[in-house]
Amino acid sequence: WLPAPATTRHPLQPPYPRPYRFLLNEPHKCRGPRPPFLVLLVASRPSDAEGRAAIRRTWGSELAVPGVPLVRLFLTGVHPVFGAELGRLLAEESGAHRDVLQQDFVDTYHNLTLKTLMGLQWVARHCPAARYVLKADSDVFLNVPFLVRRILRPGRPPRRRFALGHVYRGTGPLRNPRIKWFVPRQVYPHRSYPPYCAGPAYVLSGDVAVAAFGAAQELPLLNMEDAFVGLCLRSLGVAVTDGPPGAFNVVRLPYERCRFGRAVVVHRYEPREVLRIWPDFTAENGTCPPWGGWDG
Ligand SMILES: *[C@@H]1O[C@H](CO)[C@@H](O)[C@H](O)[C@H]1NC(C)=O
Ligand SMILES: *[C@@H]1O[C@H](CO)[C@@H](O)[C@H](O)[C@H]1NC(C)=O
Repeated sequence: WLPAPATTRHPLQPPYPRPYRFLLNEPHKCRGPRPPFLVLLVASRPSDAEGRAAIRRTWGSELAVPGVPLVRLFLTGVHPVFGAELGRLLAEESGAHRDVLQQDFVDTYHNLTLKTLMGLQWVARHCPAARYVLKADSDVFLNVPFLVRRILRPGRPPRRRFALGHVYRGTGPLRNPRIKWFVPRQVYPHRSYPPYCAGPAYVLSGDVAVAAFGAAQELPLLNMEDAFVGLCLRSLGVAVTDGPPGAFNVVRLPYERCRFGRAVVVHRYEPREVLRIWPDFTAENGTCPPWGGWDG
């Protein structure tokens, strides 16, 4: 028995670097009078038009924080079966909303890393002056005003070499081939990951987003996008920072106006659930003003 030669790529290892082409791009989105304070990169499935519509109307609004320039972009690949049909629909949607990026890789769970890298490539190429970049999944509740006003704070000097989220420490690859998060030894031979920010939502300063894209060109890719970004940060010598207590929730919490007002993210909220709680969350109401009106 001989180990497979290093040149044979395991099927779960996303092929990279490759000259993936942008099928949909928004190269001018960042050319406002001021660079965006925050670029929201939202991983999305090509078929999930309904989810994108809900996100645009709720947490993904570019007008969420008056006076603070925000840019929202959905990250998609090509549907493994209905690529052509969904491609036409996506192109239409992109024409209407100008917020869809798509590259010509197959859109599957194991290729999520390619999606994140497409987003970072967009920042590196078209928006390197962005102050901060937030990568989010679509199945989250997100409180952008709280993140912007209470944590990142536009009035302060922008942080550099900064990464923020729910930090996993001392974890390693899961080797059970039956689970969704399986990472084969051929893809990642080591037993542990460096500390990294959990995938549902994490923030990088703009310089880190650009540098991480550069670092990714040199590293073997991992099918876990968040752990892979952690590997990029380690190779750059950038430390990860824990969000304030209660801000980055990687498990679902029942909706509570006050608690959600002081959260950046709560995982496992499908867009249609977010639509349902949004009127209450945003209602003018003296108790627990939403969006970080709170000064505690
Ligand atoms: C990932 O995308 C590449 C490029 O499109 C494709 O060849 C590969 O089959 C995809 N991998 C998985 C596991 O879907
Ligand atoms: C304000 O919000 C609190 C917490 O969700 C709720 O209990 C209360 O009924 C609301 N008040 C009004 C006037 O809507």
